[in-house]
Amino acid sequence: MHSEFAQRRQQLLDKLGNGTAIFHSAPPQVNHSDVEYPYRQESDFYYLTGFNEPEAVAVLAPHHDEHRFVLFVRPRDPEKETWHGYRSGVEGAKERYGADEAYPIAELDEKLPQYLEKADRIYYSLGRDQTFNQTVLKHWQQQLATYAKRGQGPTALEDARVLLHPLRLVKSEAELALIRKAVAISVEAHNAARELARPGRYEYEVQAELEYLFKKHGGLGPAYPSIVASGPGACVLHYIENDRQIQDGDLLLIDAGCCYSYYNADITRTFPVAGRFTPEQKTLYELVLKAQLAAIEAVQPGEPYGAFHDAAVRVLTEGLVELGLLVGEIDKLIEEEKYKPFYMHRTGHWLGLDVHDVGVYKYGDTWHSLQPGNVLTVEPGIYIAPDIKLAEDQPPVPERWHGIGIRIEDDVLVTATGHEILTREVPKAIADLEWAM
Ligand code: GLY
Ligand code: MN
Ligand code: MN
Repeated sequence: MHSEFAQRRQQLLDKLGNGTAIFHSAPPQVNHSDVEYPYRQESDFYYLTGFNEPEAVAVLAPHHDEHRFVLFVRPRDPEKETWHGYRSGVEGAKERYGADEAYPIAELDEKLPQYLEKADRIYYSLGRDQTFNQTVLKHWQQQLATYAKRGQGPTALEDARVLLHPLRLVKSEAELALIRKAVAISVEAHNAARELARPGRYEYEVQAELEYLFKKHGGLGPAYPSIVASGPGACVLHYIENDRQIQDGDLLLIDAGCCYSYYNADITRTFPVAGRFTPEQKTLYELVLKAQLAAIEAVQPGEPYGAFHDAAVRVLTEGLVELGLLVGEIDKLIEEEKYKPFYMHRTGHWLGLDVHDVGVYKYGDTWHSLQPGNVLTVEPGIYIAPDIKLAEDQPPVPERWHGIGIRIEDDVLVTATGHEILTREVPKAIADLEWAM
């Protein structure tokens, strides 16, 4: 893994030209009443260093004679380590994390200027830590103050994400291995949860089963708050109460994924808890599945990112018209977004170190063109809340459709020749979801 991080830094160094890039760790976890919560490194910082401690700064200076990668870290401190855990310290930063040079974080003001004075620009992403933003600006200002005398120094501040995030968008083999591991754990958890979910169970019991398996297999935990939504709860997109007792005849929507070594899976399945879809549930499920399969087909190298969403919207709209739930001409309904009361979110997002991973979707009017190594979710749905409100020119939705919420979400890798559905081992065909008592 060390060479992996070194390789990522090299890729960024190659893009920096004469610039210096500065990255700051995530703030220490907020502690309530002296209770410590697990620390989670900032994803860009982690991507470049693998270093998982707070109060750290990474500097990449391709133009420096000796120190192209510098870490500022918390020094070793036996007493603090007794309370709060191991620190790598300055030596560890060099030995284990490959820094060419490392300093205690308290020496930042003193040591940073030598990595800026020959740079023509500073790459830094203004973040939530206003104090550190001010530190970077202060150093830049100091450099500018002597620019006339020296005739060199950074004259521009650029967002580091513009260079880094295109790299994060293309997953390496090492990253894919971690995503596959997160997926494998999540697949097993979904399959176990589906077996456990029966009328009479509470949603939180199913959630506990999922999250138990995430941890049992070495995951860091859920990648995001698990959604276990039975019956009409599935019409609430971010339902996380998970406290309802599952009823006979319900569909259960489970949207849950494991975070493994910082990489995430994001899977949704919807299935009948008593082994049989009602006719209305089945009709809508077939439609969502058809939309999802059409969307996945549009995930191809060279295809515009927007294509798979458009594919899903078209199938859903056509289906809703066929069922009489929407009335009108398909193209016009799509253009006027008349499907939105049934389907109000987009069909996917990038997936990686972050669940909603970084990377541009659209450059002005031009969609990102899918590349091998991109990983995204494909997650269409239909939601018919009991109080669903359609446009005025649309007929009311008959009650028999009310309270049905369905989403099907897979994680898909773009390959050189097409795509790979990473999460294919969680069944979604109707024949695999129905069973006889
Ligand atoms: N569960 C978060 C998402 O599907 O985007
Ligand atoms: Mn999801
Ligand atoms: Mn998702």
